Amino acid sequence: MTRHLLDLADLSVEEWDALTTLACDVRDHIDRYAHVCDGRIMATLFYEPSTRTQMSFQTAMLRLGGRLIGFDDPNSSSVAKGESLKDTIRVVSGYADLIVMRHPLAGSAKAASLYSRVPVINAGDGGHLHPTQTLTDLVTLRLEKGRFDGMTVGLCGDLKHGRTVHSLIKTLSRFPTNSFVLISTPYLRIPAYVRAILDRSGCAYREVDRLDDAIDTLDVLYMTRIQRERFSSIEEYHRQQGVYVLDAAKMDRAKPDLIVMHPLPRVDEIAVEVDDDPRAKYFEQTEYGLYARMALIMTMLQHPEKRLPDTLPVGSLHRCGNPHCITGREPYVPRVFRREGDTLVCDYCDEQTLRP
Ligand code: NCD
Repeated sequence: MTRHLLDLADLSVEEWDALTTLACDVRDHIDRYAHVCDGRIMATLFYEPSTRTQMSFQTAMLRLGGRLIGFDDPNSSSVAKGESLKDTIRVVSGYADLIVMRHPLAGSAKAASLYSRVPVINAGDGGHLHPTQTLTDLVTLRLEKGRFDGMTVGLCGDLKHGRTVHSLIKTLSRFPTNSFVLISTPYLRIPAYVRAILDRSGCAYREVDRLDDAIDTLDVLYMTRIQRERFSSIEEYHRQQGVYVLDAAKMDRAKPDLIVMHPLPRVDEIAVEVDDDPRAKYFEQTEYGLYARMALIMTMLQHPEKRLPDTLPVGSLHRCGNPHCITGREPYVPRVFRREGDTLVCDYCDEQTLRP
């Protein structure tokens, strides 16, 4: 298993199987795991609001017998005094055995991993990725559908800014028998790098504007919130808001074995009446997130060696064009790009940046 968890797609299908198998065992025998992390300390550094991710990580560590440090309001830490991400991570990685970090900038977890002596788990880096939500989603699929492949998966809502969507597509497109229906307004379509991954995957996919045009074909419907905080203009948010609402009438047209997932929080995109439909699995999903994170913490703490990375990558002279990339805000982070065809792609945020 990789030392850090920055992107679930960095793991193999076998590793996903192992983690979800362990999560299912935790669910069935949680007491057996009560002392696995005795004496271990996990830091949760939340630079952005969170309910489920933060509390499920904290509960997971407490249920494993470990202890916690951290902050959920960067203004109550030295970040408010202007401390860099690098310095915070260097310091905290001297205190804790594991760091769980959520941050508003894309690529922040990867940047943090360069300066950490202990494993870093990405708990959401801006609008980029959210690997532990996807691990939660895999546990949900395993328990509720019994498989990760051979499904028609609909993703609906803010596919542009929704990090849960990006991580889930990257992961489920590893199985060529999955197909995707991407349901959004033209403004909220998936980013170019996610589209490139889908194009390379061999999975069939189509894009539609209306949920009504797809719902009867789906095995899984993944609803998402319109991500107000990631819009550059509030007027644009108001234009996109409230476009998608899953209600009982729409559910009447869906397959009897559809499952409805949502990373939560919900705003108005699922009517409350749907909660009583047995196909609604979003509250179960939150519970599975606890088991998923217990499995992940145990797995990552199996290799307790504390050391700094041997070398830092060599920085490039190019700049990433994404205004929400960590390399623009923390200038010491070495800028690294990979070449894909005739395009340079930022290694932190995946933005296709330059055509030299
Ligand atoms: C999601 C997130 O933070 O990206 N929530 C979560 O972690 N369960 C989804 C969202 O905020 O809409």
